Amino acid sequence: MRDRSRVEETIQAMQRAGPDALQVISDFDMTLSRFAHNGKRCPTTHNILDNDLLINDACKKMIRQLLNTYYPIEIDATRTVEEKLPHMVEWWTSVHELLIQQKIRRDLLAQAVKQSSAMLREGYKVFFDRLQEQQVPLLIFSAGLGDILEEVIRQNHVFHPNVHVISNYMDFDQSGVLRAFKGQLIHTFNKREGALLHAAHFRELQERPNVLLLGDSLGDLTMADGVAHTQHALTIGFLNDQVEERKESFVNSYDIVLVKDETMDVPNAILNYIT
Ligand code: C5P
Ligand code: MG
Repeated sequence: MRDRSRVEETIQAMQRAGPDALQVISDFDMTLSRFAHNGKRCPTTHNILDNDLLINDACKKMIRQLLNTYYPIEIDATRTVEEKLPHMVEWWTSVHELLIQQKIRRDLLAQAVKQSSAMLREGYKVFFDRLQEQQVPLLIFSAGLGDILEEVIRQNHVFHPNVHVISNYMDFDQSGVLRAFKGQLIHTFNKREGALLHAAHFRELQERPNVLLLGDSLGDLTMADGVAHTQHALTIGFLNDQVEERKESFVNSYDIVLVKDETMDVPNAILNYIT
């Protein structure tokens, strides 16, 4: 924590205002989902599609090459967001075009999720269930794939009615084959535009001035920019990768930084106190 007393004061203020004033805004990949388990990387929603059911070997290879090219840019501590932006658009656009060429079938997505090693962070059930019990809305804001993300939380039995998702959704033709992606592309560093664009759809959230925000990228900090009248905001950043290189920028930007923590323990402890 950069400023422990600010964190304590914010938590106290949120506790006084209670659950009716609270909303939680969270990133998905590598924030609600695990970065690693038993020393092995867990897949992002895009990487869950790396499955023989859905794509051929040539396409797998190309998607992996794109990951090896662009992921290091995404997390590079020496480049500015402005420098990264065009590369992110190139990455997402190229992968989405490849996926469309593969004619992915909607009816196979659930099976691909089941066969993947995707996992939510330890303690996820307490997190989702508590928010549902306290009727605190959870807005999941993801640059990943919405259809896959929904399936992951559905298979983990936590897709409760208080959960809202903003993400990249697939557009299927009448026979259930992928033909395009819906709406404006969301990537790691344009979540602010997405937040402003979607604010009107989530009007109930405008009446909740206190925000607990969870992310794993500096781009995630703009996810709450659509909330018009924020009173208290507490931000928690999961620092999963390139820890030494990025620690300073994370500590300067997030109120609380969790280093290689694969659990929801800290968010759960805070929610337990304020709701
Ligand atoms: O849910 P979130 O916004 O974190 O999803 C985006 C993440 O997915 C990025 O951090 C990026 O590393 C990853 N990604 C990927 N493959 C792609 C595009 C993005 O693994 N083709
Ligand atoms: Mg993420």
